[in-house]
Amino acid sequence: MRDSLIAGNWKMNGDLASATALVDAILAGDRGAAEVAVCPPAVFLMKIGGMLDGSDVALGAQNVCDRESGAYTGEISAAMLKECGCRYVIVGHSERRTLYGESDALVSARFAMALQAGLTPILCVGETLDEREQGVTESVVARQLDAVVERCGGDSLGAAVIAYEPVWAIGTGKVATPEQAQAVHGFVRERLAALDADVAARVRILYGGSMNPGNAAELLAQADIDGGLIGGASLKAADFLAIAQSV
Ligand code: PGA
Repeated sequence: MRDSLIAGNWKMNGDLASATALVDAILAGDRGAAEVAVCPPAVFLMKIGGMLDGSDVALGAQNVCDRESGAYTGEISAAMLKECGCRYVIVGHSERRTLYGESDALVSARFAMALQAGLTPILCVGETLDEREQGVTESVVARQLDAVVERCGGDSLGAAVIAYEPVWAIGTGKVATPEQAQAVHGFVRERLAALDADVAARVRILYGGSMNPGNAAELLAQADIDGGLIGGASLKAADFLAIAQSV
């Protein structure tokens, strides 16, 4: 049985006061049976890591450098994230891939660094609207997964979390139907099973893209959906907690 994970991706929102208020409310609230994680902006990680210390709410970062240390201005290493108390780090979010040009190779290198430091990468995969309409959803998702498998091996995904996030559903209010999401989640698990049945059975595959308290239960009821990566709805404690409670 896979334990569900509900992770909040705060992106570049809020300020220190709103971030700490959100964490206070999440800590005080009913989080149901799910494992809960928050991924604040990097500059707030140290502060929020301190607030979460000793609680069962995990800390995650939104990205990690593909190098260990050195002259990489503006980057943050996996070891630094560990020092802030991070357990998770998002890699390959579609906003990084599309707005900042991160290639499959770069995403895989970031993934490798996270693993090496003992962080759990949350690897995001997903197709654009154009790709869905062209009928190439599966080949796009397969390509994104294969890049990581080639670099880090099939086993590596057993130490990771995968997030299927159809790009057309992120921040748009257009949510994938439970059937559409399950179809891709099932495909991801089958593809992993062809490499390693144990890894496939154990890896958690989150859905992301306009998940909210109104649609979460139906999505989370699908056989291969093991939680959610929540953007907009993770910024309101009541909504985020309601999603966690629907696990
Ligand atoms: P959304 O974002 O919930 O606002 O659609 C999800 C994500 O980008 O991880």
